[in-house]
Amino acid sequence: MNILILGSGGREYSIGLALKKENAHKLYFMPGNGATSDLGENIDIKDYHKLASFAKENKIDLTIVGPESPLVDGVVDIFKKENLVIFGPSKAAAQLEGSKAYMKNILKKYNIPTAGFIETSNKNEAYKFIDSMNNLPIVVKADGLCAGKGVIIAQSKEEAKQTVEDMLSGESFGEAGAKVVVEEFLDGYELSVFAICDGENYKVLPAAQDHKRVGDGDTGPNTGGMGAYAPTPLVDETIYKKIEERVIKPTLKGMQEEKAPFEGVLFIGVMVVKGEPIVLEYNVRFGDPECEILMPLIDSKVSELFYYGATKQLDKLDIKIKNKYAVGVVMASENYPYSSSAPTIISLSNIVDEELLNNSHISFAGVSRKDNKLMANGGRIAVCVGLGNSIKEARDRAYLLSSEINFDGKKFRNDIAYQALK
Ligand code: AMP
Ligand code: GLY
Repeated sequence: MNILILGSGGREYSIGLALKKENAHKLYFMPGNGATSDLGENIDIKDYHKLASFAKENKIDLTIVGPESPLVDGVVDIFKKENLVIFGPSKAAAQLEGSKAYMKNILKKYNIPTAGFIETSNKNEAYKFIDSMNNLPIVVKADGLCAGKGVIIAQSKEEAKQTVEDMLSGESFGEAGAKVVVEEFLDGYELSVFAICDGENYKVLPAAQDHKRVGDGDTGPNTGGMGAYAPTPLVDETIYKKIEERVIKPTLKGMQEEKAPFEGVLFIGVMVVKGEPIVLEYNVRFGDPECEILMPLIDSKVSELFYYGATKQLDKLDIKIKNKYAVGVVMASENYPYSSSAPTIISLSNIVDEELLNNSHISFAGVSRKDNKLMANGGRIAVCVGLGNSIKEARDRAYLLSSEINFDGKKFRNDIAYQALK
């Protein structure tokens, strides 16, 4: 197939790598990064209508959308109007991620377990709700897309009110904070669960755990994710079943009733509290770095998973998952997540250890090319992925691989997958 992938991160690289391994496709990336050009062709067409014309002219059989913003902007609707096959939710369905208020109202309407909340653009209403809350901390969220930064865990009612005020005034998140969600704090362990959906049918991938904070021991500010592993032993069949019955099925049914059937990746941020899965949030795309560890765990053709997902045929597909574990460790630049660092040259060693070579790989993210040299040019530069028969083996390989990629200011967490190895 001719396949077009939208996005430029490690997530899109890992999708490209999985497709490349099938040895059957021509890949295009828009815009891609300095390493995706080794997997296919990078193109630069930002206008979605022009991109759809490109897809027609170049006989693109399937388009896969990586990040949330093109989805929220409606790229899927534009492509579908041109009868192109594209994997991802419509603009309407992408509101599950585009608006936290929309998402919370869907959860409430279809009785899907989630934290008690209020959504409002009225300060006094938010204050009244905060005053009525019995427990601390209190969670305050900006309604719109904030690149993962729009959630504040307030330790007092005063702080919660101040946060509401800063959001509603537009001071902290601009338009995205014009509406807020105030909700109860959930105390448990967090999972990333991914369901590939075609509007009606779904396939659940192994549950992953992300590491959002920048520092070891979950310290420092939140990031896009510093590492992930899957499958997590913290999830057993009972929890998977509960997530399917109480969350995925009612969500798909609910979105059909809303006339916005959900196609694409439903990324369920779950907090497990006393054995009960509760939805923290939905995203409408793969997580990054979760995608980088899930792609190599899929034993079936990932092209089929995406294509069947995009053409309402998932019921015909039996997907196989390897009986292995994957651990991904993010190599970030010096100032991540505070500010960008100047581009520096990346040096890669030639891996000689056969076992490491066959059970690990690098997924490139914030990289560019200059004079044909690979440059570290972003916040998260690459993800070192290790596979193994145990989490420990996978983790050891990921860390072994991390010493083979070097650039000035390289930093990473040393404790990825600690939750599973305690
Ligand atoms: P979100 O963007 O909604 O996933 O929030 C970002 C992070 O904030 C989540 O991954 C959680 O770690 C945390 N968080 C969000 N909502 C809650 C909540 N109600 N209780 C506890 N932690 C939360
Ligand atoms: N790693 C979490 C996310 O992609 O949102």
